[in-house]
Amino acid sequence: MVKFTVIGGDASSDLAKRIARRLKAPYVKTERKVFPDGESKITINHIPKKSIVVVVQSTYPPVDTNLLELLSIVSKVQKFSSKIYTVIPYMGYARQDREFLDGEIITIGVVGKLLKASGVKKVLTVDIHSKLALKELKISSENVSAMEGLVKHFKKMKMKDPLVVSPDLGGQERAKEFASLLKTGSIALKKHRDRKTGKVNILSEKVVVKNRDLIIVDDMISTGGSIIKATQFLKRQKCKRVFVACTHALLVNNAAKKIKNAGVSQIISTNTIPGDSAKVDVSKVISDALK
Ligand code: R5P
Repeated sequence: MVKFTVIGGDASSDLAKRIARRLKAPYVKTERKVFPDGESKITINHIPKKSIVVVVQSTYPPVDTNLLELLSIVSKVQKFSSKIYTVIPYMGYARQDREFLDGEIITIGVVGKLLKASGVKKVLTVDIHSKLALKELKISSENVSAMEGLVKHFKKMKMKDPLVVSPDLGGQERAKEFASLLKTGSIALKKHRDRKTGKVNILSEKVVVKNRDLIIVDDMISTGGSIIKATQFLKRQKCKRVFVACTHALLVNNAAKKIKNAGVSQIISTNTIPGDSAKVDVSKVISDALK
């Protein structure tokens, strides 16, 4: 039997404990002290030796602080352990996977270089924003899906004949997968985002959703702009209730309240990012991939 030790960074300590329990592995705590100047000091309570070390840390806001903590943990642990799996359940910067406007930097590639330089050999992510982001990391990697867990949750909600909606064409495969697991249909809206202002608009003209309960499925919610615009559009088309399923709920700038005000009945997300909407646990899908 493989001997694992699981280390949880500050951003993912609860999820890391759950993964440790599933792997029947010891859990090692880390401590982060933030100095008045903003620097953080990371301490690992116990340095594991001669076991496979699983480091778990999402890089949600404060993104750079959480990223630096992850780099620091791996950099320390790799001196003592020959095998490390780096689990980054929510991978920040994954949306910066291409040069949308001239001069933009593909920052996910820079993150990849930093991870590599710190000793990361293998990365495991959950529903990373795009395949391209995973490619740009240029590290051996695996991406697992939280869709099954999210669908299981919605099945318990016993909704009658819901329709799954992707807020954009880029997410239509995800919506199709969700719909097929839920044994229902899906549609995708056409969305436009102004690359300079970040403003979102729905370009679709008409969809047949009258009197139906809808589940908008997305990989992540940041400001909520995409979900709000999609909900307002769908409500104008006389749909019934709107629910949201997403893997990573960042919900920055009071997004949860704004989304509710737009008419969404409930947001269901996973614990890649802790929070009120994080009802679905991804520890099983992660530990199964590690075994
Ligand atoms: C975009 O392609 C993503 O899948 C999400 O729809 C988007 O990043 C969410 O951001 P926001 O909540 O700020 O609209």
